[in-house]
Amino acid sequence: MGTTTAKATETDVTLHVNGHEHQMRLDNRTTLLDALREHLALTGAKKGCDQGQCGACTVLLDGRRVVSCLVLACSVDGSSVTTVEGLSAGRGLHPIQEAFIAHDALQCGFCTPGQICSAVGLTEVETESPAAIREAMSGNICRCGAYTHIAAAVYEVASAS
Ligand code: FES
Ligand code: FES
Repeated sequence: MGTTTAKATETDVTLHVNGHEHQMRLDNRTTLLDALREHLALTGAKKGCDQGQCGACTVLLDGRRVVSCLVLACSVDGSSVTTVEGLSAGRGLHPIQEAFIAHDALQCGFCTPGQICSAVGLTEVETESPAAIREAMSGNICRCGAYTHIAAAVYEVASAS
């Protein structure tokens, strides 16, 4: 009995996710994506490729877009994370979410949480033109090919801000 001690292969990690603090003891190899999905039951971020190629796992880490399958959770101890679940918490839908609905910017929806988080994080880049938006969103793959409507939704919000 008594205080448990982390093994050499584990790390105590604190993440502030969608405004809530979570303390976890994680295997050092745990990705941020797996910490969110398997330890915090936040399954909005999707595991598509698990190797940084599809963007389905995109979340905001301290306000910037990251593919969470390539981030070790222990390397971002103390950080703030926003997932798609946190974009509308208590405030109604985020304007990007509203625009995705208005433009019918999804088919199966698997890529959508990543697309939306990526679009929300677009403030880090120049977004004044449709071409710039397509380039900035190019890391988010859509197997259904909903790109035209996705780009239109993102452009509507970006050009209005
Ligand atoms: S699951 Fe992370 S980029 Fe594909
Ligand atoms: S809506 Fe199906 S993968 Fe994008």
